[in-house]
Amino acid sequence: MVIVEVCIGSDCHSKGAYELVSSLKSLVKKHNFDDEVVIKGAFCLGHCTKAVSVRIDRDQIYSVQPEKAEEFFEECIKKNLELCRI
Ligand code: FES
Repeated sequence: MVIVEVCIGSDCHSKGAYELVSSLKSLVKKHNFDDEVVIKGAFCLGHCTKAVSVRIDRDQIYSVQPEKAEEFFEECIKKNLELCRI
């Protein structure tokens, strides 16, 4: 199970955190990863200047623009899941 936390703190909120959460949830559903990926909100991840901050598996923190949700999903979530299945 991959846990993707999208910061919903004030800086990230103002840069489109909710739009990003919504897009990522739609992509997870579209690709049938519901059993493998959880998208959830998180409080400030401490990288406010790089909003919107996204953390994967309580490790790496990424800076993701909401309009790049699909690119982020493909590169940082889907590819990793496919590698795990090999
Ligand atoms: S408000 Fe998102 S990292 Fe601080």
